[in-house]
Amino acid sequence: MEFLRETIGWGLIGPGRFAREFASELAEVPRARRVAVASRNRERASSFATDFGFEKAYGSYEDLFADPEIDVVYVVVPHVFHADLSRAALTAGKAVLCEKPLTPSFRESEELIQFAREKGLFLMEAMKTGLLPAIRKTREWIRSGAIGEVRLAQADFCFQGPTDPEDRLMNPDLAGGAVLDVGIYPLFLQRFFLGEIRSLSAKGHLSSTGVEDVAAFVTEHESGAVGISQCSFVSEESMGARILGSEGEIRIPRFHAATRVSLWKNGEEVEAIEDSSGGMVRAEIEAVMEALRQGETECPEHAHEDTLALARWMDEIRCQIGSWDRA
Ligand SMILES: NC(=O)c1ccc[n+]([C@@H]2O[C@H](COP(=O)([O-])OP(=O)(O)OC[C@H]3O[C@@H](n4cnc5c(N)ncnc54)[C@H](OP(=O)(O)O)[C@@H]3O)[C@@H](O)[C@H]2O)c1
Repeated sequence: MEFLRETIGWGLIGPGRFAREFASELAEVPRARRVAVASRNRERASSFATDFGFEKAYGSYEDLFADPEIDVVYVVVPHVFHADLSRAALTAGKAVLCEKPLTPSFRESEELIQFAREKGLFLMEAMKTGLLPAIRKTREWIRSGAIGEVRLAQADFCFQGPTDPEDRLMNPDLAGGAVLDVGIYPLFLQRFFLGEIRSLSAKGHLSSTGVEDVAAFVTEHESGAVGISQCSFVSEESMGARILGSEGEIRIPRFHAATRVSLWKNGEEVEAIEDSSGGMVRAEIEAVMEALRQGETECPEHAHEDTLALARWMDEIRCQIGSWDRA
């Protein structure tokens, strides 16, 4: 496939909740052509295509995979369907950007990545956070010693979620649970800032459906630093991160979609960065398009090894909490 041409054709499967955010930002990216959207329900695909300016609407995912004008398929369906649908898109010769988590387990993610490698095609887990300018700035601050030696970080992704047991967040058949859905963000952030994880200790609470609705975990990193993370569907909103150094602190409100980071010393804000570039997935979309133009089969900013590291530790958290059994 020739990705060096200027325009890249996008196809989206699963026009549900998050697809709306993605599609509205895709519309703002130069040379991103909104070729088609597919749903199991043709009407849903048509109305989404009209709302977000896609040229075509399909009533089946297979029809979208067969469209020769599509270069990259964005998979935005519940986690349990990620592997099969990504594999089907790759089989049709498409590049794939698949929502997080790439799959519900390390083993499935490893198999899917291996499949993409054998095909020589691009595959990326849609982990947007590390591509955000505010988060990249934070890492620069940490690496340049702006807050001294970093030994501790805190990150949360907690909110009041759905109570309907059929909702995908609560439903074990759809790989529900707080860890795979939102715990992945603090886990990502700890590793992004503190480096490779050496060990982890987790506690949690299981909902009546058997998925974890609360999880707290402590990560010990190869650097010697310690990360404290929490995620929950059943508590007041808390989505901030704090990186604590020997000479200061960095604060990031709503870190998963950060637009502002601030540097604090002696209890006072001394510097802040505001990102007005807009949106939470635009940088991710641009990174995918740049990787395709460069002929890459993975995104250097969120590579396969990053996906596998997160998958390995999410397996471990869920095993320790008792919401999942590796066997
Ligand atoms: N990157 C981010 O910031 C972010 C934010 C939120 C969610 N996500 C990820 O995006 C993915 C989708 O989340 P969402 O909240 O958008 O999901 P959703 O609205 O519940 O579902 C999205 C689409 O998936 C298909 N679907 C839903 N339930 C299904 C079922 N039981 N069987 C078969 N297909 C089903 C439907 O597509 P049809 O129209 O074809 O029926 C639906 O429109 C998840 O993996 C989630 O982790 C990412």
